Amino acid sequence: TANQMWGGRFSAGPDAIMEAINASIGFDQRMAAQDIAGSRAHAAMLAATGVISDTDAKVIREGLLTVLSEIETGKFEFSAALEDIHMNVEARLKELIGDPAGRLHTARSRNDQVATDFRLWVRDQLDAAEAGLIALIRALLGQAEAGADWVMPGFTHLQTAQPVTWGHHMMAYVEMFGRDLGRVRDARARMNESPLGAAALAGTSFPIDRDMTAKALGFDAPCANSLDAVSDRDFALEFLSVASICAMHLSRLAEELVIWSSAQFRFVVLSDRFSTGSSIMPQKKNPDAAELIRAKIGRIFGANTALMMVMKGLPLAYSKDMQEDKEQVFDAADNWMLALAAMEGMVRDMSANRAALAAAAGSGFSTATDLADWLVRVLGLPFREAHHVTGALVALAETKGCDLPDLSLADMQSVHAGITSDVFAVLGVENSVNSRISYGGTAPAQVRAQIARWKDRLA
Ligand code: ARG
Repeated sequence: TANQMWGGRFSAGPDAIMEAINASIGFDQRMAAQDIAGSRAHAAMLAATGVISDTDAKVIREGLLTVLSEIETGKFEFSAALEDIHMNVEARLKELIGDPAGRLHTARSRNDQVATDFRLWVRDQLDAAEAGLIALIRALLGQAEAGADWVMPGFTHLQTAQPVTWGHHMMAYVEMFGRDLGRVRDARARMNESPLGAAALAGTSFPIDRDMTAKALGFDAPCANSLDAVSDRDFALEFLSVASICAMHLSRLAEELVIWSSAQFRFVVLSDRFSTGSSIMPQKKNPDAAELIRAKIGRIFGANTALMMVMKGLPLAYSKDMQEDKEQVFDAADNWMLALAAMEGMVRDMSANRAALAAAAGSGFSTATDLADWLVRVLGLPFREAHHVTGALVALAETKGCDLPDLSLADMQSVHAGITSDVFAVLGVENSVNSRISYGGTAPAQVRAQIARWKDRLA
């Protein structure tokens, strides 16, 4: 039998394979609440502009609430023959209220309907991402405050470079997630326009009020061009791009947590709540959450690439290709939210091992740059020569199997006769970090200022 929504010119129903490739109800039922909100706003507008009667609008709007509650309570029976969420909802409305249901689709198409539903759905996810990012930033601020002056090694090439503070390292991530937060807010502001009323592609001859539906749905304005309104998926791509960059940041922190929680580093202890054990090795406590967060970038960036490929080269306006947008975004959104929440929990619960951090900070000749700077400042050596002298002292310490502060003054003077015992004061890691007072530097005073700036921003 031909389709009840569009079957007028059809004498036969679809092949089973056609139904299988065409139906989106298996996934787009996740937009039921948005679809019903959009339809209710549309019906109210149609009545306000005299396109349908107030009585019809009233029964339609009430009927839609009944459909929503059936869906929310799991009583609704979704049908693949009805293709998608839009036609499933309308068909059920017809069963509930009869003929007036047929007036709801006046001055509207599934093209502007799906674009509206999807924008509303993505907008909710951006709001959730904003909340998730703020919670994560707060957790990092908590760690930074607790250890603003705890020394640890800073790395380049994952080789010991210069001592930094734990608070400084935590605040580096706050800056990254802070930029992600900015991108989330920018994306939300840019996407907040209503496609509803663009109809199939050309607009409509009915005297509709697009500002009214835009306002009712919390959009800032209607989309300005009906062709663009139904064919644009930039908002979904921007969502995936923002999610990808954030997931990349999450993967870097996750990787550090994996390294830091190892027996070789022991920089942090992850809580039992965010670790797992091994079924064979009783001693094991694995950082599975961190590893999975590290991996999430794969599927999120994959979704971004997939949708970019779907949209590439599509002629205006709507093409059915665009139905492939939703599963990518749904999966990326689910995994992004999960990763944000898991990272927040891990960061909140973890304890940094202050003694292990300090021990590591002092090893690996981490204050060699301080020594070179001292040779420049106090003995007046050109930096290149100071670098060379320090290199020779590092080599000497290495032969003796000790660190720089363990060399004797005589050892030092054997490399450069001008060195005095004052030099030992700059070889300590505390001195090193305390001296890095430039704006944004690792000195605890700078770190505390960074923390204070962020607390103000979040207040
Ligand atoms: N299920 C469709 C989608 O997700 C809804 C729009 C269908 N429009 C159409 N002209 N067939 O894109």
